[in-house]
Amino acid sequence: MSNAFFVAGTDTEVGKTVCSRAIIQAAVAHGIQVAGFKPVASGSQQTPVGTRNSDALYLQDAANVEMSYEEVNPYPLLEPISPHLAARLDGVDIDFGVINQAFDNAKTKAEMVLVEGAGGWRVPVTDEVYLSEWVKERDLPVILVVGIKLGCMSHAVLTAEAIERDGLKVAGWIANRINPGLDNYAEVIKFLENKLPGKKLGEIPYMPGITRRDLSQYIDIEALVNA
Ligand SMILES: Nc1ncnc2c1ncn2[C@@H]1O[C@H](COP(=O)(O)OP(=O)(O)O)[C@@H](O)[C@H]1O
Ligand SMILES: [Mg+2]
Repeated sequence: MSNAFFVAGTDTEVGKTVCSRAIIQAAVAHGIQVAGFKPVASGSQQTPVGTRNSDALYLQDAANVEMSYEEVNPYPLLEPISPHLAARLDGVDIDFGVINQAFDNAKTKAEMVLVEGAGGWRVPVTDEVYLSEWVKERDLPVILVVGIKLGCMSHAVLTAEAIERDGLKVAGWIANRINPGLDNYAEVIKFLENKLPGKKLGEIPYMPGITRRDLSQYIDIEALVNA
């Protein structure tokens, strides 16, 4: 049976993609057959080979299971705005049936599937439906990426509360230092360790050029596998 985790963030631009890639790199280093999956991606480009989103390409590149772009990202949407608005502009109806089929395909190919969400926990994919409803339908354990910056403690605790109220498990969380200038970093981490459910799976330092780095050393993959 394959393991799958949903990577949620306290917000957009907090490091979901960076942390998803770090987990994939750590899984690869651990000898796990791992795939990335990005069900819905806004902010994509039209290319000669089709519509492409950089998050999905980044996950596809890090993984050691061969998957086509379409298998990794069934819904690349053009505008870099909320998926429900981007989908409307593209004339696309996001269908959980299509996402389920693609996700099941990834699960048959890999021992572990890392699913990167979009935006924050309550990101809408239509006027009526949140992406979190799909996560609930699939009963996926959630990895919460906390972008360490001013305001992150409230965002992190509220997000974890909402995930648990949805009946889902927080498998763990990652502290991602997106703001190198933040004072009291150690105290923020201590607060989060006390308040958040699930284990701290890693701390990722602030690193310029992070998208080109191997981040496997920063993730406790055994803690995740045993979560
Ligand atoms: N630890 C870090 N150090 C330096 N830059 C980071 C770090 N984490 C993320 N970034 C940068 O911040 C931006 C947002 O990260 P990303 O992973 O794309 O966030 P999300 O997927 O949540 O939108 C990207 O430009 C990324 O390279
Ligand atoms: Mg992302």
